[in-house]
Amino acid sequence: MRIDGKAYRTIWLADDGWGVEIIDQTVLPHRLEIARLSELEDAAVAIADMQVRGAPLIGATAAYGVCLALRQDQSDEALDRACERLAMTRPTAINLRWAIEEMRDTVRNIPHSERVAVAYERAAEICQQDVETCRRIGEHGLELIAEHSRRKGGETVNVLTHCNAGWLATVDWGTATSPIYQAHEAGIDIHVWVDETRPRNQGAALTAFELGHQGVPHTIITDNAGGHVMQNGDVDLCIVGTDRTASNGDVANKIGTYLKALAARDNGIPFYVALPHSTIDWSLDSGFEIPIEERDPEEVTHVWGKTDEGAFTRVEIAAPGSAAANYAFDVTPGRLVTGLITERGVCEASSAALRELYPEHADG
Ligand code: MRU
Repeated sequence: MRIDGKAYRTIWLADDGWGVEIIDQTVLPHRLEIARLSELEDAAVAIADMQVRGAPLIGATAAYGVCLALRQDQSDEALDRACERLAMTRPTAINLRWAIEEMRDTVRNIPHSERVAVAYERAAEICQQDVETCRRIGEHGLELIAEHSRRKGGETVNVLTHCNAGWLATVDWGTATSPIYQAHEAGIDIHVWVDETRPRNQGAALTAFELGHQGVPHTIITDNAGGHVMQNGDVDLCIVGTDRTASNGDVANKIGTYLKALAARDNGIPFYVALPHSTIDWSLDSGFEIPIEERDPEEVTHVWGKTDEGAFTRVEIAAPGSAAANYAFDVTPGRLVTGLITERGVCEASSAALRELYPEHADG
């Protein structure tokens, strides 16, 4: 997608052909900085500190983290150590583990001397597949938005989204935002309510940044305003992403998603979750088995921002000394989800529907 008219992806190979470059998301929207990852630890820290974030992009970065580790040591032990290090960076997004296992399976049985080249090829493929997958999610989601537009006789379709499930959370296009971008490109009149998404404000900082640069009309609202705009009849549908989807259709996504799903249900508003296959954890029968990341309480008590003088700084907003809890994700039961928008089409958030769409997982 574009920033100031220039096309970007979130992760790419540097000109030297082996270093990895990323957009540092910790300083967006105020600064556009490219960071270089040159070794395994750079990739692990970029994921843990959320320079890269969003389930699919975390997976893509981990894939390149394995490549960087193998450049230094091609042994089985080094491969296992790299996979373990990367797996412990963030616990909820299953794409991380999916990408690590893809990389391990790809290089495990080939000669050491060929491992680096093959790993880079597979990491590039994971990125390219993510782009294609997100594009297809967008095509299926576009049909839903187009249907709302037709029903409204071409009047503005209002979509509410939470967190950033945009192109910055993937390699390109995004999951929840891909239908929005495709609808906008198709000339559908669309407006997006962007939840600010405390505590790290991925909505206000990242989703709004993305939408602004693609020219999509949008309005940032506080997380607590979602129910109000729904009651006012100002939301036609919600589309969010997910970090891990259990095989029964329950979804873990950024903290606060569940409350939006409850409000949507109370107001009869369709609530869709957009996801690639790599986000489905077929080993879990319930979303309540998904580990929920708890992050540093200082992300709740302090916020980052830009001063009027242009300095990028952190300020304390909470009563000093009060305890704070920082749950990063919550679980929305499949019964509150109108549909899952996948690269293979839209299905009900249920075990049977998911297994019908992905018959290769019918047995497990
Ligand atoms: O903590 P984050 O910013 O990595 O959380 C991101 C989200 O919750 C996204 O909605 C999710 O990863 C889906 S991204 C396509």
